[in-house]
Amino acid sequence: MGGKLVVGNWKMNGGLVSNQNLLSALVDRLPEDVETAVCVPYPFLAQVSSLLSNTSIGLGAQNVSEYVEGAYTGEVSAAMLCEFGCRYVIVGHSERRTLFGESDSAVARKASAALASGLKPIVCIGETLAERDAGRVREVLERQLAALGEDALLAAGNGRLVIAYEPVWAIGTGRSALPEQVQDALACIRSWLASRVADARKAKVLYGGSVKQDSAAALFALPDSDGGLIGGASLSAAEFVSICEAAGAVSRSSDLGVKRSNG
Ligand code: 13P
Repeated sequence: MGGKLVVGNWKMNGGLVSNQNLLSALVDRLPEDVETAVCVPYPFLAQVSSLLSNTSIGLGAQNVSEYVEGAYTGEVSAAMLCEFGCRYVIVGHSERRTLFGESDSAVARKASAALASGLKPIVCIGETLAERDAGRVREVLERQLAALGEDALLAAGNGRLVIAYEPVWAIGTGRSALPEQVQDALACIRSWLASRVADARKAKVLYGGSVKQDSAAALFALPDSDGGLIGGASLSAAEFVSICEAAGAVSRSSDLGVKRSNG
């Protein structure tokens, strides 16, 4: 927990001109008290890194190789991402798991490779609609978490690895999970972590799936929410700014609540 983190996942969108327009409309408009980042396609890392220099907006990629270097055509290593100024990398997004066959164990190896280079992996987990309908949400989340292995879980406990709960059925569908469904899942993730690492309250756990400016505040205000992973809405400067502002407003009101309760 702590301050909110809001990350835009551009997916396979953007272009040199549209990136420049989007970022110039974001820079200086995002609240200072929210940690923000954009995860962009590989070819734009150099451009976006330079556009974000001297800003507090972090840079991330959307995938990373599990290998360090060598004959792996088409792969991009964690060290290369670091050279381009990345702080984050999304790992195990459901689109990669489903469309590109990434297994739980491949996701774990990618998260380890990212951690070994000092990148913060944002590891995505979440159930399909069929799994939810079959009452298997907890089982799926626990399986995906357990697959990450002990070092990654320790890293989650001290804030070096971020978990993003992204129910597959809520991604790109315009149908966000309901706040109570999100809270149940976030609480399940945190309690599972608490049974394995010393300080699970320090772990950052995000929600992603059709977060829009109208739904953001309610989702960020959930007791176990540390922020969001934003797809489609991160491609609109106005919408992404509103979502980040909602995160800032929620943190400020909860800080006030803590101050009040401490007298
Ligand atoms: P949408 O916000 O477009 O549903 O995408 C969510 C997502 O997949 C973020 O990683």
